[in-house]
Amino acid sequence: MSILILAIESSCDETAAAVCRDGKILSNIITGQKVHEQYGGVVPELASRAHIQNIVPVVERAMQDAGCMMQDMDAIAFTQSPGLIGSLLVGAQFAKSLALSINKPLIAVHHMQAHVLANLIEEPKPDFPFLCLTVSGGHTQIVLCESPIQMKVIGETIDDAAGEAFDKSAKMLGLPYPGGPLIDKYAQQGNPDRFQFPEPQIPGLDFSFNGLKTSILYFLQNTGKTNVYKEEFKVTEDEKKKFINDNLSDICASIQQRIITILLNKLKSAAKQTNINNICIAGGVSANSGLRKAFGETGNKYKWKTFIPKLEYCTDNAAMIAVAGYYKYLAGQFDDLSVSASARNTNYTN
Ligand code: KG4
Ligand code: ZN
Repeated sequence: MSILILAIESSCDETAAAVCRDGKILSNIITGQKVHEQYGGVVPELASRAHIQNIVPVVERAMQDAGCMMQDMDAIAFTQSPGLIGSLLVGAQFAKSLALSINKPLIAVHHMQAHVLANLIEEPKPDFPFLCLTVSGGHTQIVLCESPIQMKVIGETIDDAAGEAFDKSAKMLGLPYPGGPLIDKYAQQGNPDRFQFPEPQIPGLDFSFNGLKTSILYFLQNTGKTNVYKEEFKVTEDEKKKFINDNLSDICASIQQRIITILLNKLKSAAKQTNINNICIAGGVSANSGLRKAFGETGNKYKWKTFIPKLEYCTDNAAMIAVAGYYKYLAGQFDDLSVSASARNTNYTN
């Protein structure tokens, strides 16, 4: 028997819907929200309103592309948490109404679990157990996956996420939001060894990016003379702008390289500790070309089998929610209509 799932993702500023049959993606529609550009970040209230406008056409297109009728669906999956509460509520309420109207089960999906499962969308797929470094705008985790529904977070950030480190660095450089993809772009022409940023010494498998942020702040205030605050090196705003302008590619490449080494050094420790050599990356930051390349090289060196989702499955999308919904369906993990969205990072591990 084939299982068809319609999935809805609305945790932040992308309205997305996808259909999968037996875990294979039939359609994957995503609509971004331009309205936030002028504000330099996502404005939650505007995001909720845009979701309300976008959700019907996005779901309709996902059904059309898949060549399916709503009545054919075996379940409706949606992102329950974490994210912006107003945004999540739009997707949750829409999914609940659909499930009720076609009298089919509802499946609440954790966004971070879905990011990990993006690695099961296409062949080749990792064998279990595998490790996944999930790097997004709000989270940075190393997850040990025993099965699609049995996951354990074995390391995570104690402050900013890797995506935030990219976005906040970009903001300090005067680049628009979200700055991660722009740092990636400029870094491709830059020298990653030109400027040195410190690597934090955090015990175990946890991450920290706060120190890097502070060191970039002082580095720019001091036009690269030092990474710590020194009054005598402090320059004017115009001098700072000129320094950034003249050295943008090298600065981006050096920042990106440090973020990548912080991530991969912890991943190496996790692989050693767990003795697992099937290793994946996931989340928006796994779209970063430098990280994809360095991850592949590290994998070759340590004889890992490495897996990276296709670009469209790295950043937020509904295909990953559909696949997560499929595995939850197989495990009989359904939710009743009283389930609510949650902004907080609810537990998806066991
Ligand atoms: O997974 P995602 O789309 O949304 C969340 O769940 O947060 O991740 C978004 C994050 C943002 O911080 C964005 O700047 C970052 O992923 N990102 C990148 C790249 N593409 C997206 N960071 C670095 N390089 C990229 N190419
Ligand atoms: Zn995400």
